[in-house]
Amino acid sequence: MKATVRAHPNIALVKYWGKRDEALILPHQSSLSLTLAPIHVTTTVEFGAGSDQVELHGHVAKGSERDRVLRLLDAVRVQAGRDLGPAKVVSRGDFPMAAGLASSAAGFAALAVAGRAAAGLPSDTRASSILARRGSGSACRSVQGGFCEWMRGEREDGEDSYAVQRFDAGHWSDLRMVVAIVDRGEKEVKSRDGMKGAVETSPYYAAWVKDAEAEVPRARELIAKKDLEALGELCERNAWRMHSTSLAADPPLCYLSPATLGLIQNLREQRKKGVPVWFTLDAGPNPVLLTDAAHEVTAEAVARACGAVDVVRCVPGGDATLLTEHLF
Ligand code: PMV
Repeated sequence: MKATVRAHPNIALVKYWGKRDEALILPHQSSLSLTLAPIHVTTTVEFGAGSDQVELHGHVAKGSERDRVLRLLDAVRVQAGRDLGPAKVVSRGDFPMAAGLASSAAGFAALAVAGRAAAGLPSDTRASSILARRGSGSACRSVQGGFCEWMRGEREDGEDSYAVQRFDAGHWSDLRMVVAIVDRGEKEVKSRDGMKGAVETSPYYAAWVKDAEAEVPRARELIAKKDLEALGELCERNAWRMHSTSLAADPPLCYLSPATLGLIQNLREQRKKGVPVWFTLDAGPNPVLLTDAAHEVTAEAVARACGAVDVVRCVPGGDATLLTEHLF
């Protein structure tokens, strides 16, 4: 009745931005990401505890944070088809939370896989991806490693909206993602609220959906060919388009800080000098730089020179995996 799973976060190369169903977390468009190692979240789930207890990153979860975890475990109970009793959950990550990195992605992917295992359900990546999606959309792409594509699906019940692995972590092992932390603060507008504003008020939203959907197969092709330059260009334009959609919302939403802009503008100069480095940016101020193994040290130095207070160098990461050592 107890299981522990370690999962990695992922960074979207083609972003998910906007839900067509808020309750089930169904997206308007497909997206594509790379799972990132070595950073990870470890989560232990035990059913049959005295009462429901949720501890996230060293504090007792309350309110909506706690509710989201317990709702996901309710869905596990339904899948198990039996009374599993109250649950105890302890989760710990090793990277800055809520700073534009999808920490919730690794957290909910680990929770979904651990929840199913603790309930005695068989390993099933599709079922785990759907479960993880209901905790946080991007989490459905962290159940597996490498490059994962979240297919938007058509069904109202969301059973065809999950992520599949297109290439494993070994496919492009010298690809590097350098997370440049220019701001350690909690983000002001959570992605959930930011994307809702874009869906409801941005005049560019329909164009965003059409464009992002079309970029997914292009990105897949470039990953197959390991074409860093063309993939870098695609990532930058997709990030700019996501952020433009929200800049045009009412009220407008800008996730970029002056340091974000300083760094990403500087990348053009680097490319002129022959350094292959591009950026992507989630719902926060911290850019993630895309480069190769030969240039990751240079990319880190550029990030620091442009004001990054911390840098995390990442490589393609693997699947969410069961561990034999538990957190309690
Ligand atoms: O799944 P959420 O609610 O963390 O939203 C993720 C949104 C972005 O990180 C901006 C894009 C993405 O596809 O991960």
